[in-house]
Amino acid sequence: MGDQKADFISLIRSKMSNTNGPSLFRLGVIVTMAGVISLGVMFFWFSSPNKCPPPVFRPHQYSQISSLSDKAEQKPILLLWVWPENYRFDFSVCKKFYNIDNCQLTDDRALYSSADNVIVYHRNIQWDLSNLPPSPRPPFQRWLWLHLESPTNTKRIPGLENLFNLTLSYRQDADIPVRMRLMTRKKPNEDFIIPKKDKLVCWIVSNNDPSTGVDTRNVFYRELSKYIKVTLFGKAYSGFLSYDDYYPTLASCKFYLAFENSIHKDYITEKINGPLAAGTVPVVLGPPRRNYENFVPAESFIHVNDFPDAKSLAEYLLYLDKNEDAYRKYFNWRKHLTPSPHLILQTQEFILAICTACDYTARHRQYKEAHDLYEWYFN
Ligand SMILES: *[C@@H]1O[C@H](CO)[C@@H](O)[C@H](O)[C@H]1NC(C)=O
Repeated sequence: MGDQKADFISLIRSKMSNTNGPSLFRLGVIVTMAGVISLGVMFFWFSSPNKCPPPVFRPHQYSQISSLSDKAEQKPILLLWVWPENYRFDFSVCKKFYNIDNCQLTDDRALYSSADNVIVYHRNIQWDLSNLPPSPRPPFQRWLWLHLESPTNTKRIPGLENLFNLTLSYRQDADIPVRMRLMTRKKPNEDFIIPKKDKLVCWIVSNNDPSTGVDTRNVFYRELSKYIKVTLFGKAYSGFLSYDDYYPTLASCKFYLAFENSIHKDYITEKINGPLAAGTVPVVLGPPRRNYENFVPAESFIHVNDFPDAKSLAEYLLYLDKNEDAYRKYFNWRKHLTPSPHLILQTQEFILAICTACDYTARHRQYKEAHDLYEWYFN
């Protein structure tokens, strides 16, 4: 390094000696320039990639920076713009029921401008859209369209077609599908015992409003009940069932009519989950068998379309009632799959959807637009 420095100085000196200024001034210039150049050389020398090892990338150095702030603050905020049907609940149930804890759920509209995601409940939106969250929305914010009813029971409020980012619905092709699922298990469960039965066919009917599309199931029920005894429960009939009695009552029936109010693809509700969880065989009326088999095993349920008419279905159920082995086959799936009871209080209707949205939005932060909402939903 010393030799290089000397070379530079003599080079400068030979250049400078051609000028005619006073020698003292010349000397000052030479010393200054020599200093600058030697500093430059030293800088070059020490920063040379050949002399220094390359810097090592250590991810923890960067994560340490973010862990300085409170962990909770980093959870994306999910703002519930309105309480669906005014069914309030404590957000901590997401952790308690589903072990979901990765977003910050709130109903505090003061957090709107910092909310990462906002849930808007379809049935609450006014026709003039006056109760939507304010626009313009923050550029990072996504709006979630929450709706759990089938198209038959959906109002086509104009102006929502291209407003949302994510759909939250029972539909399997929604951005965030909401559904109770059977869980696989590796170690076969050999201990399942079919609960004691003292009733043959049961049906709990809470909604019998003809405008909701219940006609198909009512026609089928009336025909079926000519050939087999059906025990009725629920608001629509005299025997209102208390919530505590829901699972025990289902368990005490050999078959349960899991009849959907309207028939649409993927519209397979908790009506089938109840009997599956209770240890009862569901008799389903809804979309085609193949659609059910997307969610539950083929041999776990009886589909009304498997029979030419209600009479032959009734005959088959009566046959199973007399043939323990044939009936037992409907529970084989429980060896490898585990059902979970769903929440049954009416006020708990939206808990699964909101908790599912919390988990999804925390894991997926991508930009997204939901275009032509009704085109997708109704067609
Ligand atoms: C959300 O969707 C709206 C409407 O399509 C769009 O303008 C906005 O840029 C989207 N934002 C994000 C963060 O996805």
